[in-house]
Amino acid sequence: MPFPLHRPRRLRANESLRTLVRETLLAPSDFVLPLFACEGEGIRKEISSMNGHAQLSVDKIVDECREAASLGIGGVLMFGIPAHKDENASGAYDDAGIVQRAIRAIKQETPNLLVISDVCNCEYTSHGHCGLVVNNDVDNDPTLEWLARTAVSHARAGADIVAPSDMMDGRVGRIRSALDESGFSGTPILSYAVKYASGFYGPFREAAESTPQFGDRRSYQMDPANAREAMREIELDLAEGADMLIVKPALAYLDILSMARQRFDVPMAAYQVSGEFSMIMAAAANGWIDKDRIMMETLTSIRRAGADFILTYFAKDAARLL
Ligand code: PBG
Repeated sequence: MPFPLHRPRRLRANESLRTLVRETLLAPSDFVLPLFACEGEGIRKEISSMNGHAQLSVDKIVDECREAASLGIGGVLMFGIPAHKDENASGAYDDAGIVQRAIRAIKQETPNLLVISDVCNCEYTSHGHCGLVVNNDVDNDPTLEWLARTAVSHARAGADIVAPSDMMDGRVGRIRSALDESGFSGTPILSYAVKYASGFYGPFREAAESTPQFGDRRSYQMDPANAREAMREIELDLAEGADMLIVKPALAYLDILSMARQRFDVPMAAYQVSGEFSMIMAAAANGWIDKDRIMMETLTSIRRAGADFILTYFAKDAARLL
């Protein structure tokens, strides 16, 4: 008879006891802040669906990074919005491109702040797809060349970690050999190994101006219904040389995160994406939920499910609360 011998409430009686037995802890260094670099100077172009987030010119990005560094957050994740987009995503692998200039400036001003660069083409193509479009679909193999050039260009600019998010087959291996051949054998690859074709990316596409002009991303991003396939994606990326993994989005995919945590012994991240952020902010703005509480609860659940660190638009807010 467990009761009355056992009373789990004994260990919940006060905050000191609860703190003593708490299983999952958060620290500012668990959070990575996504940032959007745009052309110009002194520019802060608010993203209407993502309260508190904006496209920032390089000078403003540097200010933001100083603040991020002083809060002790784990790093920043860099996206770029180029002035011109074309069919070949040429802005993505241009050494003088927007992200490359932002990375150089950040590494100069806040050298100890970890800079992760998102390696993808969708912000740079006129059609908004993540690679070379042939017959209304993204052609996998030629796209690998762009990705490899982009990753090397980011590393040359000073990126500490490159994070391919395009979901092309074979890109991790291709990026690994391109980095190695260019003298960047020490640059880790954080692979978005498991990225679902998700409606939760809606606000990001406004932020990054990367909505596909036709069709959708379902021929390269994963079907939300599939879990076993996620494990296979991870196995392949690790075989190709990925150092760390991302599961994305986070909250609707905690089962995937937990399954991956049990199977693979590499550092794992989860991306609490734009839609997850915006839903919480919108409900809080209506007074329906307590923003800080839900923010910490979701971040804790993502850590508990197995993420070592979290890419999140709450990075600064959460770090301030801790
Ligand atoms: C692709 C990319 C996307 C996100 C990060 N990298 C968008 C997409 O696949 O359409 C979404 C992130 C978010 O929603 O916060 N470069």
